[in-house]
Amino acid sequence: MKYRIDTVAAHAGGIGDGTQVTPPVSLSTTFLQRTPGEYETHAYGRISNPNRDALEATLAELERGSDAAAFSSGCAAMHATLQLLAPGDHLVACADIYGGTYRLIEQLVVPVGIALTWVDMSDPSVVESAMTDATRMLWIETPTNPLLRVFDIAVLSEVARKRGALCVVDNTFATPLLQRPLELGADIVVHSMSKYLNGHSDVVAGAVVCDDAELSERLRFIQRAGGAIPSPFDCYMVARGIKTLPLRMLRHCDNAQALAEWLCEQEGVEEVHYPGLRNHPHHGLAARQMKGFGGMVSFVVEGGLERASAVLRRMQLFSLAESLGGVESLAGQPALMSHASMPRDVREACGIRDGLIRLSVGLEDVADLRDDLQQALFTP
Ligand SMILES: Cc1ncc(COP(=O)(O)O)c(C=O)c1O
Repeated sequence: MKYRIDTVAAHAGGIGDGTQVTPPVSLSTTFLQRTPGEYETHAYGRISNPNRDALEATLAELERGSDAAAFSSGCAAMHATLQLLAPGDHLVACADIYGGTYRLIEQLVVPVGIALTWVDMSDPSVVESAMTDATRMLWIETPTNPLLRVFDIAVLSEVARKRGALCVVDNTFATPLLQRPLELGADIVVHSMSKYLNGHSDVVAGAVVCDDAELSERLRFIQRAGGAIPSPFDCYMVARGIKTLPLRMLRHCDNAQALAEWLCEQEGVEEVHYPGLRNHPHHGLAARQMKGFGGMVSFVVEGGLERASAVLRRMQLFSLAESLGGVESLAGQPALMSHASMPRDVREACGIRDGLIRLSVGLEDVADLRDDLQQALFTP
């Protein structure tokens, strides 16, 4: 029976092993064989493991795909996906992207002979004209990190399909609770599970999900031969986190919406980026494509780099730290933190200003979060 998403999430990681309600963590790296070459389900921990299998089955169901492969980080999952490309292939990727993805593509993928074009994906005709006969992959992050732009997955998937290219969507910010790219026509979904899926800032992991047997076989080969897999305990922890994902996402969205609206009214706040705001350039698309606008907000303070750093240093409830998607609120300055690996001119060209502050809005009482922003912004 195909269960609804909240039910799939509540049962993440499987229900027991026939005798227990909570599945045990299987730490064994190797499994007994009856006769050489003949084993029950698992042979060796890099190839498969009960906790990883259970997490992968949950991920595939949540994204409505046929298979998911778990990795040791979001970057490992993205790198595995990019290994579907061969020298001479062309990749079109969205500018305004997580800094680590930018670094991965520029410094590990381009040097092996992949041609690359960064484009603003707000206009699908620009994407279409960037594609060549060699284009094999379209790489979309939506909403984007850190400017929360939203791109049309259905239209861009169709653009890719017409040219015989794979459409990959980084669904880390939205999670399958708010948006399911495979249902909109994308071929592959990638995740940093270190963020909302795990949700408690205590595991680094990633995943790739698809809905095609041949793609799955290729990705599984890269996963098993490359070996960048998460530990059984990390798989158990991510599955445990997913159980509360539907509830957490509701609160993340409500708190972020309230703070974004409040920030819009504050003096000295020059820009507020949140797809739930009516004046966000992609609000209509976000409302159609997503079930909620997510927990990430970014805004620019008057006074540039130094002023933004000073505001961040004054925050007390928001922790000044990299990452996002945990139950606790975090804040950072992309120019000096998550996007420091992007050259300044590239950063500025895609609109990431020095005074930009990025908030990962957590599950605290929103009045306390607002009070903290108020004192951080306006204490002389
Ligand atoms: C949108 C997005 N994708 C991928 C990653 C990479 O994930 P990880 O840190 O798990 O390698 C991040 C990390 O911040 C991210 O924000």
